[in-house]
Amino acid sequence: MIRPDKKIKRIIQSILANDLLAVRDYYALSEDARRKMVTELGPSVLRRLTRLIKKCKKQVFASENKRLLKIAQSDIATPVYFIDEILIEENMKVLRYVKDRTGCKILHALKAYASFATFPLMREYLDGVCASGLHEARLGFEEFKKEVHTFAAAYRDKEMDQIIRYSDVIIFNSFYQLQKYGLRAKKKGIEIGLRVNPGHSEVLTEMYNPCAPCSRLGIINHTFEKYFSGYRNIVEGLHFHAMCEQDSDILERILNSFEKLYGQHIKNLKWVNFGGGHHITRDDYDLERLIKIINGFKQKYGVQVYLEPGEASVLNAGFLASSILDIVTNQMDIAIVDASAETHMPDVLLMPYRPHIIKSGQSKEKKYTYRIAGLSCLAGDIMGDYSFNKPLKRGDKLIFTDMALYSIVKNTTFNGINLPDIAVIKDDKRIEVIKIFDYNDYKNRQS
Ligand SMILES: Cc1ncc(COP(=O)(O)O)c(C=O)c1O
Repeated sequence: MIRPDKKIKRIIQSILANDLLAVRDYYALSEDARRKMVTELGPSVLRRLTRLIKKCKKQVFASENKRLLKIAQSDIATPVYFIDEILIEENMKVLRYVKDRTGCKILHALKAYASFATFPLMREYLDGVCASGLHEARLGFEEFKKEVHTFAAAYRDKEMDQIIRYSDVIIFNSFYQLQKYGLRAKKKGIEIGLRVNPGHSEVLTEMYNPCAPCSRLGIINHTFEKYFSGYRNIVEGLHFHAMCEQDSDILERILNSFEKLYGQHIKNLKWVNFGGGHHITRDDYDLERLIKIINGFKQKYGVQVYLEPGEASVLNAGFLASSILDIVTNQMDIAIVDASAETHMPDVLLMPYRPHIIKSGQSKEKKYTYRIAGLSCLAGDIMGDYSFNKPLKRGDKLIFTDMALYSIVKNTTFNGINLPDIAVIKDDKRIEVIKIFDYNDYKNRQS
């Protein structure tokens, strides 16, 4: 048995030698040992550790993606969402590293991903979930079994008792809602928060900008200043959410604005929640800056900081495998697959964005270009134009990447199109098909 301080000495030596073993050994330490170690290391060694963690994650993703390609090309029925637990765990490790370095708490946003088959793994790393209302709060309570923080733009009378039952924290979007339900929740031991508009955001797509002009999301500062003093004794935290798939430089600017507007009230609070939209597990995300921001904030105000990313938990950890059903021609070749942008990956059309297909290039970048389209009646059910080295043929598999987030939670049965199966690639590399949908799922929703 190696003594803990010897283990740490060995890890530091590995960090200094840029050896990836450092990451494996660091991850294997107990929580106390990890946290103690990072408080004792100097900034340059920590920066090296961060770089090694990112490198290690990249390597695991690269090798796992190769394996996944083989799995998806096997004779497994399509369409099917693959959720890869090995990759989710890699993301979890990065999130936990942020917790180790800052003592912040991280909640997973159920709105992005709620496939509870992987919650036993995720709960080992995170502090709980954030929910958007009753059903998510209940799912979090029943399946994640840690903290549940609920925020909705407005709550319904008939759901409030249950929301109180399933939540640890309830965040209100107006003083009217706080007045109506706050004391009732507080009496049941619930912590109360208010969502505020931080006064700054840099989300370019209006649809996804919670701080766009006339936004209903978050109390504006003018209203906050007018009424907050009357509720100060029951409010324990402030929450803002103003980001979408963004880096920590943007968080820094949002936080500057938030502090200018609300700074004088923070010291009397228990926590501040920085919302979601932090793309923490993206390869080029500036982790060190995030860590510095959180540590600085905690030092200044002495409050608990929460983050509630959704995408970051499962970023690049899911895939949608589809098969080409037909190829038709109208000025160009159009491959129709057994999946649909409209029903199975709705953000492709809403955002809009172009999902990556494995082994494809931009239109005309490779020799053979096709429009890839879905099987629904919607004229615009198109994933995009892609090129390939070889001609496509009916029956070929196409694999859309990064499909765990905002896909399964948002998909529909429009046109009666069947929902894709869901398969989990377990950490011992077994594949478990956890859900197969059929006619009854469509019928039950129509009544
Ligand atoms: C209040 C709130 N918290 C957290 C999230 C999660 O954001 P993301 O999945 O982009 O990290 C969202 C997303 O819309 C949100 O509205």
